[in-house]
Amino acid sequence: MIATVLPTYTRAPLNFVSGEGTWLVEQDGRRFLDLGAGIAVNVLGHAHPALVDALTKQANTLWHVSNLYHIGPQQALADKLAEHTFADTTFFTNSGTEACELAVKMARKYHHDNGAPERTDIITFDGSFHGRSSAGIAAAGSEKMTAGFGPLLPGFIHLPFGDHDALTEAAKSPTVGAIMVEPVQGEGGIRPLPDACLKGLRDLCDEHGILMILDEVQCGVGRTGKLFAHEWSGITPDIMMVAKGIGGGFPLGAVLATENAASGMTAGTHGSTYGGNPLACAVGCAVMDIVTNPDFLADVNRKAGLLRQKLEGLVAAHPQVFAEVRGSGLMLGLKCVASNMDVVNAGYSNDLITIPAADNVVRLLPPLNITTPEIDEAFTRLEKTATQVALNV
Ligand SMILES: Cc1ncc(COP(=O)(O)O)c(C=O)c1O
Repeated sequence: MIATVLPTYTRAPLNFVSGEGTWLVEQDGRRFLDLGAGIAVNVLGHAHPALVDALTKQANTLWHVSNLYHIGPQQALADKLAEHTFADTTFFTNSGTEACELAVKMARKYHHDNGAPERTDIITFDGSFHGRSSAGIAAAGSEKMTAGFGPLLPGFIHLPFGDHDALTEAAKSPTVGAIMVEPVQGEGGIRPLPDACLKGLRDLCDEHGILMILDEVQCGVGRTGKLFAHEWSGITPDIMMVAKGIGGGFPLGAVLATENAASGMTAGTHGSTYGGNPLACAVGCAVMDIVTNPDFLADVNRKAGLLRQKLEGLVAAHPQVFAEVRGSGLMLGLKCVASNMDVVNAGYSNDLITIPAADNVVRLLPPLNITTPEIDEAFTRLEKTATQVALNV
């Protein structure tokens, strides 16, 4: 008999009932150190007092009004994003997938309204992940996500990750309107795009009048030690997809854009019942107030350096388990020699949460406010986990 919850996930035998900071409590009372943060969602850990306060205050005031009216917390969050990023304007969604949908629509509408309706193609890269909607799976294009779900949304050109020649050639096509890319691939196995590549991509876009869409759903909101990952390279996109961390655990996503890129999105061209609702945006404002503080980001970078250094030591000490450390900031991956699932499962037996990714990688995406003693504790548990796995390889 089918489970009453549609069985689309292979779930670990864990059922968390509460959380505080970097810790999750299982129903049997075990306390797990959370290096997953709900896959880069809980940027400020669990039950952060400022977020609880923002949410409860808003819950006692107003839960929902339609986007037919002005929504104060939505306006406040859009203003904060405009102040701290390249963006002139933001549309709020409830998830990353919805952000992908709008990014695709926005890019196509831009070219349509600028006299080039044929420029509907969007270049994407192998190993990418942009969500599970029809546009999202067509954008990523992997067999694993698309098999059985055809006909797929047309208009995506999939290129090998890091193949400059293929990219330069594809960009010449008169039907290409946008390039969609994650500055650091998350699901694909923590694969950062070098700053020089991001700059090269920007130049290529400018040369051919192509819109640059960055997917910062996983790598954004302080995760790499800048508010958004692309800031390391000094370039700015035309359109950016955001979700996960921006809501700190409350469902919230966004598409940020320049005035020019967003010019086709006039009244009536897009909408969402819940997108930008008062509860989500009140929490989003509280997240932004904390993560945009330069001291907070400096601390993320300090801790990222510490964690990375410890992980390099871990890899050196366990060459039969790990091959390398990769990533940026507190978005780190351990490329495994052993099976990544064996590492994740052994972690569970040591009350430690890590997240598997493609390319046989284990992801470490802790809350950004993880403390130094917690990093030490994480290392102790990772050591124990690696020793356990090594005994079985
Ligand atoms: C880079 C990236 N884009 C898009 C998505 C889809 O976001 P959501 O699951 O909120 O729809 C994800 C989710 O993992 C992601 O990592």
